[in-house]
Amino acid sequence: MTQKFAAIILAAGKGTRMKSALPKVLHEIAGRPMLGHAMAAAAEAGASEVLLVTAPDQDAVRDYADAQGIKTTHAIQKEQLGTGDAVRAAFDASGKHDRFVVMFGDTPLMRPELLLGLAESSADVTVLGFEPEDAAAYGRVALQGDTPTAIIEFKDADEATRAITLCNGGAMGLSRTALEKYLPQLSNDNAQGEYYLPDFVALAHGGGDSTALVMANAEDTIGVDSRAGQAKAEALMQNRLRQKFLEAGVGMQDPDSVFLSFDTEIATDVMLEPHVKINVGVSIGQGTTIKAFTHLEGVSIGQDAQIGPYARLRPGTKVGDEAKIGNFVETKKADIGKGAKVSHLSYIGDAELGMDVNIGAGTITCNYDGYNKHLTKIGDGAFIGSNSSLIAPVTIGKGAYLGSSSAVSKDVPDDALVVIRAPEREIKGWGKKFRAKNEKKDS
Ligand code: UD1
Ligand code: MG
Repeated sequence: MTQKFAAIILAAGKGTRMKSALPKVLHEIAGRPMLGHAMAAAAEAGASEVLLVTAPDQDAVRDYADAQGIKTTHAIQKEQLGTGDAVRAAFDASGKHDRFVVMFGDTPLMRPELLLGLAESSADVTVLGFEPEDAAAYGRVALQGDTPTAIIEFKDADEATRAITLCNGGAMGLSRTALEKYLPQLSNDNAQGEYYLPDFVALAHGGGDSTALVMANAEDTIGVDSRAGQAKAEALMQNRLRQKFLEAGVGMQDPDSVFLSFDTEIATDVMLEPHVKINVGVSIGQGTTIKAFTHLEGVSIGQDAQIGPYARLRPGTKVGDEAKIGNFVETKKADIGKGAKVSHLSYIGDAELGMDVNIGAGTITCNYDGYNKHLTKIGDGAFIGSNSSLIAPVTIGKGAYLGSSSAVSKDVPDDALVVIRAPEREIKGWGKKFRAKNEKKDS
């Protein structure tokens, strides 16, 4: 049985190195704010509650957290006096939990399995250790056998301690007993004048309470402090997502050029060609091919469909099974029926297309009058000639034909043919006369 635990997420840091007006933890990785990743990982690990530590001026962060559908209690840390002080703020705001897992709001690659390991550990203080290629300025974990005895912050460490390769990943599992006993004993008598969460290790070890170690990979604990760090975390997350889909039977000719979102859903036997960008809210059905240079966002695509190359499908687009969206086509809020074809150079917005509709090249739904958006409806099997303008609101009946270049604003009945075009004039020999006149002038 998994122990119930509360996740303490620390997010009160200023994040000044991001050089952004947006609070750091609201910056996105794979289409989701870093805090969203942290909260989802906590929920997936089975946390019964999130205790979120924020600074007084971070209303935007609190509002975001409240919208996640995860039970969240807010703790305000008035001054950023260190990670230990932040945990104190959370503990003061917490109810009756026996086990706590502390994690950071700016480590978006943290895996739920690791948090579960910290939650389920029977020790009073459980450290998340890792061995980075470059130990840099991470806190160093001192061991006796397999048991952590202390974490020493880089700035407080002597040369011998700095030579330790086992580093503190930041997250930590704590028993209620450890928090009650050692929070009052934390001191800020150190190089940074901060209350350190890592000091729990030496306090517990010295106080006769148990400590333990859970190991993470270096990428799991990556913290984002700068735009460069954000780009690095994004790259790692993209690799994780690509790997997940490759293992699930999704084909990619050049995985490194495919970009996915945290919530992307793709069935088996989907092929993603190079340079496909999938933003949030996309699902793709079995057997569909997304051809090169296609951009998708907020779109659900059925089975055995063909999309692209160079297609842009915007939010609210639904593509039916076996439908085809070709090159340089943009869609928005469009319900495209089974087997329908929009093959070339079209804009289809605020539209409902029935089954097997054929949209000729260059067709435009004129959906916007500067104030409101209007609907275009096209019945099953209708054929829209190339270069037509559908001036919404307008309905084209089932099986109807619209002649090429028509600008239609009145409804077309089922099975009718409507052609709206200026009458054609033919003037025999005009070109020859025209050239003769102009060539005489030149000489
Ligand atoms: C921390 C650890 C270090 C570890 C490293 C791993 C401490 C003292 N050091 O250092 O051992 O190797 O993580 O990345 O814990 N925060 C608050 N309030 C505060 C201070 C920090 O909420 O008063 C939050 C920050 O927003 C951030 C997290 O705590 O999300 C970590 O703080 P940060 O200053 O980045 O700690 P590190 O220097 O990375
Ligand atoms: Mg950090």
